[in-house]
Amino acid sequence: MSTVDWDALRSAAVRIAYSAYAPYSGLRVGVAAIVDDGRQVLGCNVENASYGLGLCAECTMAGQLRLTGGGRLVAVACRSGDGELLMPCGRCRQILFELGGPDCLVDTPHGIRPMAEVLPDAFGPTHLP
Ligand code: THU
Repeated sequence: MSTVDWDALRSAAVRIAYSAYAPYSGLRVGVAAIVDDGRQVLGCNVENASYGLGLCAECTMAGQLRLTGGGRLVAVACRSGDGELLMPCGRCRQILFELGGPDCLVDTPHGIRPMAEVLPDAFGPTHLP
């Protein structure tokens, strides 16, 4: 896996945020990730009139990951449509951990950090019998 082009990943996240459906919060969210085979997968949030049913950008990205061949996430950037860095919410950290593991890199306000730091002491697949 070659070095991650973080600027390109951030730009892709901002661009895909414009596909978001966010009529309730008004916050368009985009996420872009690199897979271990080098391809890029994208997601955007999709809200719902039944507010609690809204899908985060990371959820739709997880769908694209699986629908386009699976693999492991190695790098993730999440941005608003205005270009603001957004951290994945707690639920989405668990989703990223499942699909990328502790070494998956995340763009954070404190630099590029592994999931092991973004979701410390995570519950994961190894804890299942
Ligand atoms: N949102 C995401 O898409 N990802 C996150 O990790 C945090 C929150 C979305 C959900 C909702 O549509 C909007 O941001 C406001 O909470």
